Amino acid sequence: MAQLWGGRFTKETDQLVYNFNASISFDKRFYAQDIRGSIAHVMMLARQGILTDLEKEKIVEGLEGILSDVENGKLEITHQYEDIHSFVEATLTERIGEPGKKLHTGRSRNDQVALDMKLYVRDEVHMLNQLVKELLQAVLKVMEEHVDTYMPGFTHLQKAQPVTLAHHMGAYFEMFRRDHERLKSIYGRMDTCPLGSGALAGTTYPLDRDYTASLLGFEGPTRNSMDGVSDRDYLLELLSALSILMMHLSRFSEEVIIWNSNEYQFVEIDDAYSTGSSIMPQKKNPDIAELVRGKTGRVYGALNALLVAMKGIPLAYNKDMQEDKEWAFDAIDTAKGCLALFTGMLRTMHFKKERMEDSAKHGFTNATDAADYLVNHGVAFRDAHGIVGRLVLLCIEKDVALDELPLEEYQKISPVFEEDIYEAVSMETCVNKRVTAGAPGRDAMEREITACRKYLGEY
Ligand code: ARG
Repeated sequence: MAQLWGGRFTKETDQLVYNFNASISFDKRFYAQDIRGSIAHVMMLARQGILTDLEKEKIVEGLEGILSDVENGKLEITHQYEDIHSFVEATLTERIGEPGKKLHTGRSRNDQVALDMKLYVRDEVHMLNQLVKELLQAVLKVMEEHVDTYMPGFTHLQKAQPVTLAHHMGAYFEMFRRDHERLKSIYGRMDTCPLGSGALAGTTYPLDRDYTASLLGFEGPTRNSMDGVSDRDYLLELLSALSILMMHLSRFSEEVIIWNSNEYQFVEIDDAYSTGSSIMPQKKNPDIAELVRGKTGRVYGALNALLVAMKGIPLAYNKDMQEDKEWAFDAIDTAKGCLALFTGMLRTMHFKKERMEDSAKHGFTNATDAADYLVNHGVAFRDAHGIVGRLVLLCIEKDVALDELPLEEYQKISPVFEEDIYEAVSMETCVNKRVTAGAPGRDAMEREITACRKYLGEY
């Protein structure tokens, strides 16, 4: 048991209490952030004349040594310390003696941990956004390659109207683009440095909080010391942004699972991204997509758990807040893993163009266009709707698609139909007539793809 406190205690902490209270097992991942924050704090203390330059140099050198030793495996962060802050301070004092004991002047672990978490989140958001960018690039590539791949668009999971694979993918591009923007916008609201808030009421030392904030790359210090140590809004924002991102990945996974099913066969997941069965030799399962869908619950769970933990916490710091870490770490790790795996699966996935087009045709996704044909030849829409309904019934009886039905059969139902009906109900015509902004028609799609490329260029 190695603790930073103990002076006012007459008994040793019970071992179970110690274990229950300690956070080193998970906050050790903050070692770099904790050292970075400590270096900035010490630079400021010396600048303010609270420490001498010599003390500053010794401390900074000591902290840098700890950082590189941890990084290259020479120094192990053992669980004998209560938390990462205690580990760094105790190791420093062990290594450099007296000046190490001055590191914590004008600081509390409350503002220290608030800083570490912010620095950590800042780095992680950057990495998450990089992964979102790679996913967007993979989605865009499918869009570029499949402007002419016709497929059924669905409502209620029933074939509705023809779209293209590029258009379908474009919907996911939009979702992940919004995820990127959401993640980016979190920065703006968390760009304040809590260091100098002390335990809750600031400190009596003449700290220069602006200086520390600027050394650590923040816009400025937090404006209220009680809020500074107990604000976890940015974490909640991150967890909600990640929950929405995971919801998108989960919907996409669900589609991949459906498309990869024996009945659909719209896609084939690459062997490297599929798994087999221990008993059924023929099986090739979409486990990655299923896991992404399943892991979405973990991220929602983290958001919910933190919201619940925070709702009853009076100002300022309370130990409940220590719980934020495991939830946040798990959610961040989960989202990063899912993003990387999903992107790999998408990049290697084979899209079966013919199956998709065939499915669109045999699902009568062009029935609305056949009705529009009649309307363009002077038939009232309600009558046209009835005529095409009868046509569809006939096609179902004969087990053919609309473009496979002979013209005489068309004309038996309505004499308005001419040879050009075939062109009117071709997938190409049906899709390419839809040219309004955001529609699947080639021209609209090309414009959209250009806009997507531009977005990624400016990412
Ligand atoms: N491990 C603690 C946490 O994660 C650090 C802050 C400890 N502060 C305290 N007053 N005990 O929240």
